[in-house]
Amino acid sequence: MHEEHRDIAPDWYARAFDALYPILYAHRSVEAARPEAVFAAQELELTGSERVLDLCCGNGRHMNHLEAFCARLTGLDYSMDLLREARGMLGHGCALVRADMRAIPFDSCFDAIANFFTSFGYFIDAEDNLKVVLGLAGALKPGGRFFIDYVNKESAITNLIPESTRHHDLWDIQEQRWFDEARIRLNKRTTVTHDGDTVRVVEESVRLYSPREFESLLRAGGLRVEALYGDYSGIGLDAASPRMIAIGRKE
Ligand SMILES: C[S@@+](CC[C@H](N)C(=O)[O-])C[C@H]1O[C@@H](n2cnc3c(N)ncnc32)[C@H](O)[C@@H]1O
Repeated sequence: MHEEHRDIAPDWYARAFDALYPILYAHRSVEAARPEAVFAAQELELTGSERVLDLCCGNGRHMNHLEAFCARLTGLDYSMDLLREARGMLGHGCALVRADMRAIPFDSCFDAIANFFTSFGYFIDAEDNLKVVLGLAGALKPGGRFFIDYVNKESAITNLIPESTRHHDLWDIQEQRWFDEARIRLNKRTTVTHDGDTVRVVEESVRLYSPREFESLLRAGGLRVEALYGDYSGIGLDAASPRMIAIGRKE
């Protein structure tokens, strides 16, 4: 593929998460979210009396399990399709809000905020990613806890599979992945075909952060990292870890 054709549209996130998304990521299911939500609840020190936000909640698959651990649960997402799915699945005790994560419409009201499955680093402009951190911190009460499950830069680059194909229901799915070294971004283009006809091209792009860079970005928002895990078993983060899970509290 020619280099300039490999650029991802800066507003890719506005199109990538439609009704097809839960099909493309079928393995990221409600069931798969259960142990992740339980782990997050434990790390967020939830006792059942807290007000909690799932920032970028998608179809609510973690909220479905988190609800049992808090007094009031709110999900925020930008995708109307995924919020609609969430509304269909969740009880009316859960609030759902459509907003851009750069403009989180809450002020000092949550005891804890969770952000699951690489729902950060979406914006090309570093200022925009900082806005997310500032908004997250602003929405937390002083001393409030956060849980961010992000991709681990080193293992993502080392284990990058440039191209793969799979079949799901009626669709052939081709996934191309590449590391944009200049922008320090991991990019992915998914082409969905049916009987040889392209039905959809989905682009995704996230900024990769070293653990130190991630910590200092969070610190810039007044968020202090207390633990960095490499996966949902709670093992310490190292170069081979699949995930970079940052947990801490607002100063
Ligand atoms: C990788 S998905 C993860 C969703 C969910 N946390 C999960 O684990 O299934 C990223 C989510 O971020 C949402 N999103 C993308 N851009 C956003 C934005 N600018 N503001 C708020 N949410 C956004 C998407 O709609 C999508 O639900």
